[in-house]
Amino acid sequence: MRFPVPAGGTLALWLAFTTPAYAFDLHRFWDAQCQGCHGHSADFARAELAKNPPPAERLAGFIAGHRGGVDPRLAAAIAAMLTAQANQPADFREHCRVCHGDAASLARNLIRRDGGLYGRYSGRALREFLESHARLDADGAEAFARLMERVEAEVHFAEVE
Ligand code: HEC
Ligand code: HEC
Repeated sequence: MRFPVPAGGTLALWLAFTTPAYAFDLHRFWDAQCQGCHGHSADFARAELAKNPPPAERLAGFIAGHRGGVDPRLAAAIAAMLTAQANQPADFREHCRVCHGDAASLARNLIRRDGGLYGRYSGRALREFLESHARLDADGAEAFARLMERVEAEVHFAEVE
């Protein structure tokens, strides 16, 4: 999917360009605006940011002024996403990808209710479900629940009216 993002535009302007009732999705934004030069976001984060991570504020500032400009709120969110990816211990690719593809796709089918995550269609509680899924032990279930919580917040970064 491709989004027309106004160069240097504000987030409000960018949101106005997207379809109504649409969740603004940081992963889709990355795929449309950044992936062409940098590849997959988590790979980029691990390769470029894991060893010597810049302070999140400096990274956000860099992104805000990078390639014609990114809205500061969006730049801060992308910086937070990259920083989290660079430090992500649980490896979705190794344990989950064979059945689920990428984490963002799976996270788009989760919804947040009363602070917890549930399957959009199954209604299942994520944390409980993971305790008896994919042969995860308690620590693994916890680590992947956190990973899914982060990615869900990224793919549902903002609700567009
Ligand atoms: C047309 C190619 C291109 C696009 C599109 C692009 N970048 Fe970059 N990016 C670069 C180049 C080249 C560098 C290294 C030179 C520099 O610092 O500008 C870079 C550097 C970076 C760095 C610093 C990496 C480090 O090692 O410190 C970050 C972070 C970054 N880009 C994020 C983004 C984000 C987020 C987007 C999408 C909004 C994006 N880039 C889109 C070409 C691109
Ligand atoms: C061998 C294949 C396989 C692997 C590996 C796997 N899953 Fe699943 N997963 C499934 C299937 C099949 C379902 C649907 C199950 C059902 O509906 O009962 C599912 C469902 C889910 C759901 C529930 C979605 C919902 O709507 O209720 C989540 C969340 C999930 N998996 C996360 C993970 C995570 C995280 C990993 C990696 C640690 C993982 N899965 C590894 C096959 C797999």
